[in-house]
Order: sequence, then structure tokens, then C-alpha cells
Amino acid sequence: MTGKIVLLPGDGIGAEVIYAAKDVLEAITKKYNKPFEFSSYDIGGVAIDNHNTPLPDETVKACKNADAVLLGAVGGPKWDNNPSDLRPERGLLGIRKALDLYANLRPVKGFKKLLHASPLKEEIIQGSDLLIVRELTGGLYFGQPSERFDNGNAVVDTLAYTRKEMERIIDKAFQSAELRNKQLTSVDKANVLESSKLWREIVEEKKADYPNVTVDHVLVDAAAMKLITNPTQFDVIVTENMFGDILSDEASVLTGSLGMLPSASLAEDGVGLYEPAHGSAPDIAGKGIANPIAMILSAAMMLRYSFNMNEEAQAIEDAVEKIVNQNYYTADLKNDNGELVNTTEMTQLIVDAI
Ligand SMILES: NC(=O)c1ccc[n+]([C@@H]2O[C@H](COP(=O)([O-])OP(=O)(O)OC[C@H]3O[C@@H](n4cnc5c(N)ncnc54)[C@H](O)[C@@H]3O)[C@@H](O)[C@H]2O)c1
Repeated sequence: MTGKIVLLPGDGIGAEVIYAAKDVLEAITKKYNKPFEFSSYDIGGVAIDNHNTPLPDETVKACKNADAVLLGAVGGPKWDNNPSDLRPERGLLGIRKALDLYANLRPVKGFKKLLHASPLKEEIIQGSDLLIVRELTGGLYFGQPSERFDNGNAVVDTLAYTRKEMERIIDKAFQSAELRNKQLTSVDKANVLESSKLWREIVEEKKADYPNVTVDHVLVDAAAMKLITNPTQFDVIVTENMFGDILSDEASVLTGSLGMLPSASLAEDGVGLYEPAHGSAPDIAGKGIANPIAMILSAAMMLRYSFNMNEEAQAIEDAVEKIVNQNYYTADLKNDNGELVNTTEMTQLIVDAI
């Protein structure tokens, strides 16, 4: 069977890193005889320029017909002053909604050779290996009304969730914990928010279905503090959309660079979308120095979650670990003893290691 993969390069370094991931997948095809069929579509700023919309219908259609989608990144200063329906991020929110990608999985693992690149002390981050499971289609970013009133002098945003939306993400987190160290931390603000009170009730109800998983509840403010003072205490963290957005970027400092963090966004039974945690990095776009590892590790997650190719996914992850441990590094990762390489060179090293 040929895996149908849609590439959405997007803007800035998105295109640079997505073709790095494609090279790595072609190395997997060669080694394991697993063919993939690639096609590319516009999203974000480039789609606004070419189609006058951040999410053309043909992009949505192609993604719905694919087995999996790889996305680079969207956005950049060129479109920053556009009206809200012509902003690149609209493309991203739109494709998540169109594919009903309700679960965002972000693994965060410190690489031994990169511990020094984190602003945190090595002894604090050593051994950290956690997974953040974030709800992606509900909460404040989608609730209505979201508007200004009183002549623009007052605002309202709405945090809305249904029980079903909470249950499916909490189930996904329990299942993820079962595959890891069986420890789930649910993050909420149940001392203040009604939505968090229902969230906490559902987590408590679900415990009976997953007797092997231990559960604790942490308020989001305390979780933000614990994540950088004692990250090794966490295995799987589950939380709603906005809290997850903030905590997952905070967790990125554990690895030393956004350039190392992959993510998977999953639908209930449909197509999965895989993208690096970083944005389009306009400050380095076009220079050929972007770190492709987050994108390449996202492709590995794709093999695991969308194609059930665990051995092949592991081969990519092992190759990345090998090259990082051989002290090769890109400009975003400080390493005084290592060898500085650009995007193409880093990709080739990983391809060769596979
Ligand atoms: N998922 C997405 O598409 C996404 C996510 C976040 C931000 N954005 C958009 O990206 C644009 C820039 O946003 P930002 O600057 O806040 O975040 P960013 O992640 O693009 O960049 C933050 C910093 O990290 C560096 N960086 C990020 N990825 C890197 C990589 N792979 N290799 C080397 N260095 C890397 C950048 O050079 C920059 O200094 C904005 O338009 C924003 O809206 C898009």
C-alpha cells in the first residue's frame, strides 16, 4: 500500500524544513520498501498571496483524502496587518477544525548532548521525558461570542466545551499514559473556572476505566512553575486548549530549542496532521540554517500514529539521536565543542544514519 501524504509547506522556514522531512521519508522508503506518494498544497500566507484565502478549498479537500498531512509553519510580517479573515493563522485553525483534529500530542525529551543549550540547569532537566496532550478544537480560541462591544471599549471571549469534547481528549491522554509510564497529570483551574470543574469531574470518572494509570490534578499556575523547577516528575500532562498552548511552549525550553519539538494532531478516526512546534521563523527564513529536526521527528510521529510503522519511526528517532550525540548542531543550538551544520547538511547526516 502506498501512503498518501499531503505536504503543506506554508511560510518562512516551513518550506525549508518540510522538504528535509520528505528526504528522510524517502530514505525510509529505500530502506524498508515502504512507498509514499507526496503532493503539495498552499496554506497560510502563501495561500493568501496565491488564492486570496489562507485555506483554499482544494487544500482542505486534498487533506481530507490523504492518509496523513505534514505541515511546515504559517505566518510572517508580510501578513501581520491583514484583516483577521486574511491572517495566515486562520489557515491553521481552519484546517484543524476541518479535519476535526481534537488531540494535540507534543513529546518533550531532553537530548543528553543538548542539555547545556537549555537556559535551565542541567541537573533540573536531566532525564525529563514527557508528553503534553492538549485539546485543540474547543475552548477560548473557538467560543462565541468573541468580540468587542461598547464602541470597542469592552470585550468578550468565550470558553465553551461539551462533555463529549472533554471526554475524548481525556480518554486519549489515559491511553497515551498506558503506553508510557502510566502517570497522568490533569491540569486545570478548577478553583475558579466552571469548565475546569467539569473537566476534573470527568477525569475522576474515567479513572475507573484505566486502573493502571495513576492520576493527579494540578492547577495551571502551579503546573507552569513545576514544569521548569521539577520537570522529571511528569509523564503525561493533559489539559484544555489555551493552557496547553502556553504550557507546551514553556516545556520547549527543556530541550534547548523549539527546533527540536515535534507534534501530532489527531482526529478520532480520520487523518492525522504532523507539524513542528515552532513557527515560520521569519528572522532566519531563506538562510538555509533552520533546524529540521522538529519537522523530521514530526514525520516519525506520522509513521507511528497514521501508518502504524513503529520500526520505521524508531529508525528516524534513533538516527536523530545518533547525529545529535555525535555533536552535530544547527545554529539555534549552542554547542561549543560540536560541528555547526546547516539545514541540508543536518538532513543528509540523518538520511545517512538511516
Ligand atoms: N504552527 C505555526 O505555523 C506557528 C506557530 C507559532 C508561530 N507561528 C507564526 O510564525 C511567525 C513567527 O513567530 P515567532 O517568532 O513567535 O515563533 P517562531 O517559532 O517562528 O520563532 C521563534 C524563535 O525561534 C527560532 N526558531 C524557530 N524554529 C526554528 C528552527 N526550526 N530552527 C532554528 N531556529 C528556529 C526563530 O528563529 C526565532 O528566533 C509568526 O507569524 C507566528 O504567527 C506559526
